Amino acid sequence: MEKRNALGKGEGALLREEETVEFQELLEKRRSVRSYKKGRPLAKEEREKILLAASLIPSAMNKRPLRAYLLEDRGLIKGILEEKGQPSIGDCSALLLVYGDPEVQPYRPFLDQEAGALAENVMLMAVSLGLSTCWLGVHEGAIFEKRLLALREKLGIEGKDIPLVAIAIGEAL
Ligand SMILES: Cc1cc2nc3c(=O)[nH]c(=O)nc-3n(C[C@H](O)[C@H](O)[C@H](O)COP(=O)(O)O)c2cc1C
Repeated sequence: MEKRNALGKGEGALLREEETVEFQELLEKRRSVRSYKKGRPLAKEEREKILLAASLIPSAMNKRPLRAYLLEDRGLIKGILEEKGQPSIGDCSALLLVYGDPEVQPYRPFLDQEAGALAENVMLMAVSLGLSTCWLGVHEGAIFEKRLLALREKLGIEGKDIPLVAIAIGEAL
């Protein structure tokens, strides 16, 4: 049976009913998880799919100002989350760190909006892989922001890229 997407007109908006339900289930399954199974590395396929999801986002004027880094150094992750005041999240498998280049996209709201799209894509892909996530907001002036700014050198980021969002990814406890 076919039905039309509530938003849609035309061919691209046609969805089979089963697909609609599956996607709704995925949306409903995504919850912020703050306790993770310790010492559980990401599998190669998980890593690839997460990075693929991060790349499949729209971008204003197709400027593509964002860079995403998948940090899997457990000690480093633990230290960052302890410092942020959320130590239980520190057992996650990876932290996806998203930075934006203000020289490529000088209009700050577009950096934030694109980072939001990336975050949602990654969280939903993670759920589809049986993983869980927690969005970690980056407030200007907060310790977390300072830490992510300081990490730029270690990540090989040149220039003045701004940390925009981080997503903890792992298997829920
Ligand atoms: C912009 C933004 C920033 C957030 N920052 C944090 C954070 O720093 N730490 C945290 O544990 N959760 C953070 N969250 C997750 C929210 O607390 C969570 O989405 C909300 O409580 C609803 O729960 P749910 O995600 O399970 O639906 C953030 C969410 C958003 C959208």
